[in-house]
Amino acid sequence: MTVKRSSAAGVCWTLLMGCVFAAHAVTFEVKDGNSTCINADLNASFSITYNTTNGTSAARFVLPSSAAAGDASTCGGAGVPPELLVSFGAGHALTLVFSSDGRLYRVANISLQYNLSDTSTFPQSSSTGLVTVMTNASGISARLNSTYRCVSSTSVSLSAEVNITFSDVHMEAYMSGANRSTDESVCSADQTVTTAAPTQSPRTTTAPSPVPPPAPERGNYTLTGRNGTACLLALMGLQLNITHRSRSLNQMVSEVVNLQPNRTTASGSCGVTVATLVLTEDLTNLTFTFALNSTTQKFYLSAVSVSAFWPDMTDRFSEGNVSLDLLQCSVGRSYMCSAEQTLSIVPSFSINTFRLQLQPFNVTAGRFSAVEQCRMDQENMLIPIIVGVALAGLVLIVLIAYLIGRKRTHAGYQTI
Ligand SMILES: *[C@@H]1O[C@H](CO)[C@@H](O)[C@H](O)[C@H]1NC(C)=O
Ligand SMILES: *[C@@H]1O[C@H](CO)[C@@H](O)[C@H](O)[C@H]1NC(C)=O
Ligand SMILES: *[C@@H]1O[C@H](CO)[C@@H](O)[C@H](O)[C@H]1NC(C)=O
Ligand SMILES: *[C@@H]1O[C@H](CO)[C@@H](O)[C@H](O)[C@H]1NC(C)=O
Ligand SMILES: *[C@@H]1O[C@H](CO)[C@@H](O)[C@H](O)[C@H]1NC(C)=O
Ligand SMILES: *[C@@H]1O[C@H](CO)[C@@H](O)[C@H](O)[C@H]1NC(C)=O
Ligand SMILES: *[C@@H]1O[C@H](CO)[C@@H](O)[C@H](O)[C@H]1NC(C)=O
Ligand SMILES: *[C@@H]1O[C@H](CO)[C@@H](O)[C@H](O)[C@H]1NC(C)=O
Ligand SMILES: *[C@@H]1O[C@H](CO)[C@@H](O)[C@H](O)[C@H]1NC(C)=O
Ligand SMILES: *[C@@H]1O[C@H](CO)[C@@H](O)[C@H](O)[C@H]1NC(C)=O
Ligand SMILES: *[C@@H]1O[C@H](CO)[C@@H](O)[C@H](O)[C@H]1NC(C)=O
Repeated sequence: MTVKRSSAAGVCWTLLMGCVFAAHAVTFEVKDGNSTCINADLNASFSITYNTTNGTSAARFVLPSSAAAGDASTCGGAGVPPELLVSFGAGHALTLVFSSDGRLYRVANISLQYNLSDTSTFPQSSSTGLVTVMTNASGISARLNSTYRCVSSTSVSLSAEVNITFSDVHMEAYMSGANRSTDESVCSADQTVTTAAPTQSPRTTTAPSPVPPPAPERGNYTLTGRNGTACLLALMGLQLNITHRSRSLNQMVSEVVNLQPNRTTASGSCGVTVATLVLTEDLTNLTFTFALNSTTQKFYLSAVSVSAFWPDMTDRFSEGNVSLDLLQCSVGRSYMCSAEQTLSIVPSFSINTFRLQLQPFNVTAGRFSAVEQCRMDQENMLIPIIVGVALAGLVLIVLIAYLIGRKRTHAGYQTI
């Protein structure tokens, strides 16, 4: 176990007053033999309410640069999860326990042990001894082989009395090399950092609206049936809009995130009357169910469910709706909508689709069948046609007027 100290404090001295809590980021490393498994660079400040002899008091302190990765830190293995245990001061300890599902790793729980007997930190405390609090909702997760980055401050509440605010976090667990990966999983507070600054002004009560992301890239998702031929085709750009409680702002926000095709895998099943497409990206699971109505000979999107745990969410977001009737199209054709379309699933979740073409049934030779366009596209097509017809009409009128005029003048000359 080794501990290094970084020197972000230099900036602080120049800012003097404003820097009481913006302390150094401290670097911790957990090693197994010669190979590093956890490398974390972080700032943490603690706020702990405790009982005093004459009331309650709040202790506020930062993770000191003397903090060290304790001997209980481990790279894990054989049913033991990797763990970073940072001890500091008179018997205080911050523990991060990691877990991984083979694609992502996350901080499964954060616990803090603090020592109320430490009178310099907890003056006049009415009780003494060690207190341990723990949460398993850290909100910290990242892709394996990537560094979790969160420069913005994010608070984690471990109990009604204990809050930890992390900032300047650069951390990787389950490392495959000696150094932290240059590939980063950026927390959403950082992604919207320019607009999401929390405003404590009493006049503004609405959440600051983050800049909407650009139109998503178009993904190509294909399912293959048992006989090895494509049975469901989908080409589309997807943007998810989820309204959830933001961890960094502690209020409801509508977060809009693009699905990145090169990080998304497609799975599911094809059937005679029901087909399912499951799209999985790091922190997001999306399931589309298509149904076929044999009476009307049309297929439609009948159900959608989502499960997401984005970094700024306080809890996992899981919602779905099984009574939808969207994207209707005749059987044996493919549904197409180039224009942006919003699919409202539940009040807190909608999907914006871009340049969509899909066919969940009757795919032959791995290719889309004849296209049936959505109304928006038909209307968009109609405008140029109307303009074209109007222009042609205008040209015709001018031409006729010209010809008539010419004939008249011609006739006029002849009479003289
Ligand atoms: C660690 O590295 C040193 C020097 O490179 C080497 O002598 C030692 O055997 C290594 N230990 C392990 C456990 O690999
Ligand atoms: C403080 O004292 C009150 C009343 O005695 C008690 O309910 C509360 O749990 C105590 N808080 C802590 C943090 O010990
Ligand atoms: C409790 O006592 C301390 C010292 O005796 C004093 O500084 C503090 O203001 C008191 N707190 C309250 C809430 O009376
Ligand atoms: C708690 O703090 C007291 C006073 O500083 C100290 O004597 C004691 O050893 C500490 N407890 C632990 C477990 O370190
Ligand atoms: C992470 O990197 C290691 C070593 O390069 C590799 O074996 C492993 O498959 C990678 N894991 C993921 C999920 O990319
Ligand atoms: C961390 O959380 C997991 C899941 O909630 C739990 O099984 C595990 O025991 C916790 N670890 C510690 C050290 O509390
Ligand atoms: C593959 O199966 C689908 C339906 O399951 C069928 O329509 C298609 O003709 C089959 N293709 C081949 C090459 O057998
Ligand atoms: C996201 O959803 C919210 C709430 O329904 C809505 O106000 C907002 O305009 C939507 N944003 C986008 C980009 O679709
Ligand atoms: C995914 O695509 C984006 C945009 O084209 C690119 O910046 C990124 O490096 C790609 N990521 C991977 C893992 O291929
Ligand atoms: C098929 O569509 C008809 C007409 O819209 C409707 O009455 C019927 O309930 C639908 N059947 C199913 C299975 O959805
Ligand atoms: C599911 O979708 C239907 C049709 O759009 C809508 O009427 C219903 O309110 C939705 N259910 C929920 C729980 O939002």
